[in-house]
Amino acid sequence: MVEVIVPATSANLGPGFDVLGLSINLYNRFKLEETDGGLKIEASGDAAFKLPSDEKNLVFASAKRLFDEAGYRYGGLRITIENRVPLGRGLGSSSTAIVGGLIAANEVSRAGLTKDEIFALATEIEGHPDNVGPAIFGGLTICYRSDPGFRAVPYKPSENLKLVLLIPNNVLETKMARGVLPKEVPLSDAVFNIARASLLVSILLTGRSGLLRDAMQDRLHQPYRASLIPGLTDTIREISRATGAGVALSGAGPSLVCIIDRLPEKDFLKKIRQLLKERGQDYLIQLAEFDLEGARVIGR
Ligand code: HSE
Repeated sequence: MVEVIVPATSANLGPGFDVLGLSINLYNRFKLEETDGGLKIEASGDAAFKLPSDEKNLVFASAKRLFDEAGYRYGGLRITIENRVPLGRGLGSSSTAIVGGLIAANEVSRAGLTKDEIFALATEIEGHPDNVGPAIFGGLTICYRSDPGFRAVPYKPSENLKLVLLIPNNVLETKMARGVLPKEVPLSDAVFNIARASLLVSILLTGRSGLLRDAMQDRLHQPYRASLIPGLTDTIREISRATGAGVALSGAGPSLVCIIDRLPEKDFLKKIRQLLKERGQDYLIQLAEFDLEGARVIGR
């Protein structure tokens, strides 16, 4: 039996569409056990009833993918899932399942894949690298397509900063949120994002938070996704204006991620509660820290 925890993640961070991602100290837990035959999947926690308990389950499909790659023959499997990362809210819940399945299967089969190899497989299964990257390596990751495959470069974010997640009740499928994006964007919008993404990385590494509000602006995906999330543009603008924090859609949404300076944290919370109340918006406000280690085996 192998037990693995995998952190939630926030991808894009505004300007870093499909490139930047952060690992968050909120974890899903997966156990994988080889049995004599059959497949048994038990899930508990957030929206556990929505998780498939057959071969469509992403933890199983990912584990099987690794077993197949490694040429490992298993009898049967028992998978236990403890789900704490809210499902379908842009906090990387599907990445936790993929990474959890791959890492557990790597241990069970003793296939010995490296983190980079697991990252390559996980990106292929997920279709984009910026959630599985931070889920595997922890901290801030910069992901990009290289030759022959994707690369993830991890960095440790500054201790001056912390995260506030604004989690709504409704879900948004990533597939649908990718479906509204254009194939091409104006050069001026690409330049706008390159400037913000560069600024954001420097702020995340140095903790100099003064320009966070500018650094998390985006023109590559949020303006298009606003058609799926009523009021998105105004909400982001008003929160960042009132608090000075960096605010963006977390992944494909619908949650928002705020990056704030740790010191005026109480002030930020007071302002944001007031603002959301005035706007009649019902978000769960969750404080979070960066996870620095990424997915790990916690039991064998
Ligand atoms: N970069 C991906 C997207 C992240 O925005 O579609 C999804 O969580």
